[in-house]
Amino acid sequence: MAGRIPIRTRIGIVGAGPAGLMLSHLLASAGVESVAIDTRSRQQIETTQRAGILERDSVRLLVDSGVSDRVLREGHEHTGISLRFSGIDHRIDFQELIGASTWLYPQTEVFTDLADARARDGGDIRFGVRHTEILGIDDARPRVRFTDADDIAYELRCDYLVGADGSRGLSRNQVPPAHRHQYFREYPFAWFGILAQAPPSANELVYAHSDRGFALISQRTESVQRMYFQCAAQEDVDDWSDDRIWSELQARVAGEDGFVLKQGPIIEKTVLPFRSFVQEPMRCGTMVLAGDAAHTVPPTGAKGLNLALADARVLAEVLERAIRNNDSSVLDDYTTRALERVWKAQHFSYWMTTMLHRHPDSSDFDARRQLGELHSVISSEAGSRYLAEAYTGWPST
Ligand code: PHB
Repeated sequence: MAGRIPIRTRIGIVGAGPAGLMLSHLLASAGVESVAIDTRSRQQIETTQRAGILERDSVRLLVDSGVSDRVLREGHEHTGISLRFSGIDHRIDFQELIGASTWLYPQTEVFTDLADARARDGGDIRFGVRHTEILGIDDARPRVRFTDADDIAYELRCDYLVGADGSRGLSRNQVPPAHRHQYFREYPFAWFGILAQAPPSANELVYAHSDRGFALISQRTESVQRMYFQCAAQEDVDDWSDDRIWSELQARVAGEDGFVLKQGPIIEKTVLPFRSFVQEPMRCGTMVLAGDAAHTVPPTGAKGLNLALADARVLAEVLERAIRNNDSSVLDDYTTRALERVWKAQHFSYWMTTMLHRHPDSSDFDARRQLGELHSVISSEAGSRYLAEAYTGWPST
């Protein structure tokens, strides 16, 4: 189209969240040029609260690929989690079971590290673009049209395109329905997430099952805490005063050990959508999908960000090979390798969710059965070990 400024690059990346930025960083290390765009501003991404737990290999990837070692200095190593039910804590000790840990290091920090690393290394990342259009994924000339914040129109021309624009992005719907399968599951509840100005109530994460529904006690800093409780899918945050939120959270963690949450002013309230989704295959022609654009997990297993980083790691390797050998057929390897992890994570996230949440139609039998399941996990080394392996992350393949 007349008036569009052409940009030529090897890999065009739609979406500059953790998947897109990690991919761009890894490609640059392998000598492959890319350009990433995002409709959000850097500040918008940096201030949107997301998950907080990194698997062992996600930490390694950030440090070993040279993004940053800040996670090791400012993140908190967690050597286990607590499964709390019938008002008692049951610790799953990852170190003792499998010699692994996770790190509490919020996604907003991961994003900042990645954006800083790309800026430091001269990466071409354009935030705040508008009017994005994807063209030509079914031929050898994929293109992305967009206008920048100053209304200048561009056409990005590349060898391969990566859709890393999240679950509400454009790219996954570019794949014609006849060429994709969308697997989908809805849950009849959501999470109410808060940030509170208060000291930590626990050193590690507490996943609490209760008759009133699930609650999760997480942390952010010495003075700000992150907590969640199961709520109705259509819950309105304005119906919840600070007092009402605290009494609900306290009721869900209360028990004979006298555990009480440290309270403080609530500075953010949001209802988080809750669903499981996978689109297969993760490739169509010259486009591949990465991160939430290809799959969504409910947050109970803390897998979303970790899957996005794992996709980027596999994809960087496969794209580098495709370019070096001028052979796009290797992109199918990406789908096969990524989906194995994705479906394991889907299962784990679904399992943690159904084991810990109260289904609105559940009977007394269902509630007692859940306790039976939780007792099975904590009293069996094999059961606890499965949880520890899945939570800290399967080894990279
Ligand atoms: C968080 O700290 O935001 C967090 C931690 C664990 C989860 C989900 C969210 O499973």
